[in-house]
Amino acid sequence: MTPHDGYKPTTRLVHGPGHSAKWDFTHHVTPPLSSSTTYRLDSAHRGARGFSEFGRQVKDTGEPPVYIYDRLDEPTRSILEGELAEVEGGEACVTFASGMAAISAALTAELLPGDEVIAHPMLYGCTHSLFTNWYSRLGIQVARIDMNDVARLRAHVSAKTRVLYFESPTNPTLELVDIGALRRFAEEVNATRSRERKLLVYIDNTFATPFGQRPLEHGADVVLHSLTKNLGGFGTELGGAVICPKEMLPRLLLYRKDFGGILASKAAWAILVYGLPTLALRLKRQQYSALKVAAWLEQNSLVARVVYPGLDGFPQKELARRQMLDFDGDFAPGNMIYFELDPARIEAEDFVDELAANAYSVTLAVSLGHTKTLIEMPASMTHSSYSAEESAAPRAIRLSIGLESPGDIIRDLDSALTAVAKRAKPACASGKVGKS
Ligand SMILES: Cc1ncc(COP(=O)(O)O)c(C=O)c1O
Repeated sequence: MTPHDGYKPTTRLVHGPGHSAKWDFTHHVTPPLSSSTTYRLDSAHRGARGFSEFGRQVKDTGEPPVYIYDRLDEPTRSILEGELAEVEGGEACVTFASGMAAISAALTAELLPGDEVIAHPMLYGCTHSLFTNWYSRLGIQVARIDMNDVARLRAHVSAKTRVLYFESPTNPTLELVDIGALRRFAEEVNATRSRERKLLVYIDNTFATPFGQRPLEHGADVVLHSLTKNLGGFGTELGGAVICPKEMLPRLLLYRKDFGGILASKAAWAILVYGLPTLALRLKRQQYSALKVAAWLEQNSLVARVVYPGLDGFPQKELARRQMLDFDGDFAPGNMIYFELDPARIEAEDFVDELAANAYSVTLAVSLGHTKTLIEMPASMTHSSYSAEESAAPRAIRLSIGLESPGDIIRDLDSALTAVAKRAKPACASGKVGKS
């Protein structure tokens, strides 16, 4: 029984572990920003102990660890890792310099030449690029199959297949993947496999965050995050995290030590002190606004299609309500919206340019999960690594809702729609017209 047993994750994220043997400064209310690249070892024996124990630490044991050098382990980062493992319900966490560093480490540290990954067709653009530009060079095959099509997965899977990889919701199209169904499929495959060759379920949980979805509860093996987005939350730090079973920890720590893509302690500190304690507050507010904005877009005659898991018309409504739940068990549809304008009436690029020129509360910029509302066009920006044929919707728009008043976000979207429609086709200028 620890002193924080029974407290809600929202409270835990504010207070962290309370006391930790990883700190020398137990009287600080806010964790101090540690910034020491190297550590005094006191004796050669202690130095040797630090090296021999490297890679074995899983959770805070109450014993002060032997710190040696920042790239091996460091208190602020280590506390952040403990918190991320805790809130995802995982055994261990290893952080990295960025989300892409975490994704590439979690896959590359596990896979061997000749192995295969099956990945969902739609993914964040740089993950797609990792698979298409790099894995063929490393002798790792990547097949792309809809993760909700278990029959096709079953027909394709072979002894070489080691990882099922997806995002849910996907970036940018907000499709969901049924994690429980994939767990059952992996169990079926693993019934005849050795421990070392198990088929593993990897999910990038960046969009939902542990606030809105805890994939390990549904049977995922590995959870990945870009800490740069919702978990950092303020748009000031890049970072990534892998939450994994404890057997994977030694190899991931070794990988990080030798490839060197560590999360800087100053970035870890900001995520620990600002990002995590405000996660639930920010996400609740943002999804409250996202629902209002999505509903407004949906009734606008200039908008052809709106995808948001909280809308009644969301195609995977039942799965969304089963899988996307917050710490209190309430539906958590998130802060991301994907939509298309009616191309016969309004050019998406003109609309986005109008916002860039004149909007105050909506900013044209990539990234997401920021205090500010961000808008972008994935096909030509974040997902430009996909070819034109692979991009299902070249003019679609991605919106990440921030902390502004929802009425102001709608006001800016409305002004831009109205201004552009007026210039383009004066006869059908009003963005306020409801759909018939
Ligand atoms: C779903 C998803 N995963 C991973 C990443 C990569 O994160 P980073 O930019 O921190 O490397 C992103 C970045 O946008 C993302 O949207």
